[in-house]
Amino acid sequence: MSSLTGKTMGRPGREGNVLVQFSAFMFLVIVTAASVLGLVLSDFVRSHVIRMHGSFYALSLSPNFDDLLATGNGTEFEALKSGLESAGGLPHVKDLAVWDATGKQLFGPAGFHEGRTRDDPLPVALGGSVRFVYGTRPRAFSFGPPRGDLFLFLPIKDAAGRMKGVISLRESDSALAGDLDEAARTIALLVAIAGCAIYAALFLLYYRSYRRQRTAAERLRQSQESIIFAMSSLSGLRDQETGGHLERCKGYVRILATRLQSERQFRSYINNEYIRSLASIAPLHDIGKVGIDDAILRKPGKLTDEEYEAMKKHSELGAGILDAARERLSFPSQLELAVELTRHHHERWDGKGYPDGLAGEAIPLSARIMAIADVYDALRSERYYKKAMPHAEAIKVMKESAGSQFDPGIVSVFLANHSEFEAIFMDAAP
Ligand SMILES: [Fe+2]
Ligand SMILES: [Fe+2]
Repeated sequence: MSSLTGKTMGRPGREGNVLVQFSAFMFLVIVTAASVLGLVLSDFVRSHVIRMHGSFYALSLSPNFDDLLATGNGTEFEALKSGLESAGGLPHVKDLAVWDATGKQLFGPAGFHEGRTRDDPLPVALGGSVRFVYGTRPRAFSFGPPRGDLFLFLPIKDAAGRMKGVISLRESDSALAGDLDEAARTIALLVAIAGCAIYAALFLLYYRSYRRQRTAAERLRQSQESIIFAMSSLSGLRDQETGGHLERCKGYVRILATRLQSERQFRSYINNEYIRSLASIAPLHDIGKVGIDDAILRKPGKLTDEEYEAMKKHSELGAGILDAARERLSFPSQLELAVELTRHHHERWDGKGYPDGLAGEAIPLSARIMAIADVYDALRSERYYKKAMPHAEAIKVMKESAGSQFDPGIVSVFLANHSEFEAIFMDAAP
């Protein structure tokens, strides 16, 4: 069974990307919403302006309608046309047509709109509603508002609301289209400004809450580290393992895990959070020594077999303490990694370690890394029962233990970076 551990740890860089992802997502949502809103609003305003325009015509032409019907010839119609032109009231009107209430065309050119509009607006106008439709576009495909002539069909009613007929105008759209384009541009600009303001406000809100959350998480992390350090110092009080040893172990495991991260077999597994967690919990590895008798811990000479067996209990004791704490939490935490590291940091690659006699990759990765960090520092430090060993000699011992006591792959990484180990030891030498 291959055991890498830390399965609850997140992936590197995930937190940092949240802000970018949120910003990009919000930007897309707001740009899409603003575009749709801009188009809908522009269309609404365009329709509204044209209907108002049509209503104004209908109101202006209504008094002439009875005269048009009464004469039965084109005189009155021509008079109306020329009257409109000379008055300058309808300078864009290109043509005029008149229908009675039954839909029969009375005046105006034959085929006034047939074949020139996408649908027939006459029935709608006869139903009593102002109807407008653009003429066929000059191009098969184009962006922006329609550019053909505008056909306006205006229902004319008497005072009682009865339908008298329809007057239709074919109008050049150039001036009207210019006005409508300007209105559409103004609307689009206003919507874009509103969209930017909403985006900025949402981004600010999210950023502030993100920063608060990050600060709270960082404070919690620091609190955890200080509690871990206080707990691990307990073992140091009983043993010769000082605060310096615990701090140095953090540095060693950080180097090993960081270098292992670039190795092919660990690349997909070790991430920045794993490294941070491993360094954070490393000082807990001998917490179980609080339960070992002082007479054994501080014995200057070699331990008897019985004393050694008692000493070996510290890894299980420590894991038990941490596991009890872990069980009180309802969410994954660093304590899971701490439990396995503490329990297994005395396992050996050849299976002759304790407490479970795990071998090879069955030993959790955290414990394999910790074993190398712990033993290197122990070799370099003076104990009740031994002298401190120089760096070169310690390197030799570590190298000889590759494949028996230690994971040979991690020993290779250690050997490739041994000068950093020495630097850490010298910086905080006991
Ligand atoms: Fe230990
Ligand atoms: Fe230790």
